[in-house]
Amino acid sequence: MDIHWYESLSSTNDEAKRLAKEGAAHGSIIGADFQERGRGRTGKSWICEKGEGLMCSIILRPQWDKKYWGWIALTAGLALSELLQRDCLRSVIKWPNDILVNGKKIAGILTEADEEAVIVGIGMNLNMQTLPEVESEIKPTSFFIETGCTLDSRSYARSLQQQLVQLLSADSPLLIRSTIFHKLAWKDTIISLTTKADTYTGKITGLGDFGQLLLETESGEQEIYDAYNIRPIT
Ligand code: BTN
Repeated sequence: MDIHWYESLSSTNDEAKRLAKEGAAHGSIIGADFQERGRGRTGKSWICEKGEGLMCSIILRPQWDKKYWGWIALTAGLALSELLQRDCLRSVIKWPNDILVNGKKIAGILTEADEEAVIVGIGMNLNMQTLPEVESEIKPTSFFIETGCTLDSRSYARSLQQQLVQLLSADSPLLIRSTIFHKLAWKDTIISLTTKADTYTGKITGLGDFGQLLLETESGEQEIYDAYNIRPIT
């Protein structure tokens, strides 16, 4: 297993992209104790004090056809959720890229793809005893807050990589669709979902062949490929 760990980086995703271009192998891990410009989805930043969290990126050269790459963030979410389960922590996937424990966000995933590689960036709150108040409806939590235990970021990154590479060895993502669906948050409730273009209200009914969310709304079934915000409204 190739692991590149740094005291500080601008963003592990950027370093992973650079190494991928140089030919780094499938499954290579790029991690940092601190990021100067950690990125989240939708232009947000990912801020984490040194030693408090897991900040790593995994370079993937998936055997799955490119049309299925939409499954990769969800597969990473499943890998992380299965790892948390080993520590008896039940988690759910907030489609498409967050992991929630007890309704609070413990980790986020940022996938970025180029021609032949996918970079999966994972930010997870590990050892924080307290977390700053945030405006968003989904509050953050950490592994320590939920379990009273601390974790070592490097060894957790290794375990996560193993779990993810194992899941990606499935012949097709469609073989793990029902396992991922089972882990989705808010299947039993009405949700509000905002995309670049619209806001929808409805009920999650499934995952399409490319990882898109199937949402039953008053005007029929919608297939959602990306979302800025999802929240339960009942
Ligand atoms: C999100 O919740 O919006 C996704 C957050 C992803 C953060 C991780 S930390 C490691 C990797 N490097 C980055 O710059 N971002 C991801």
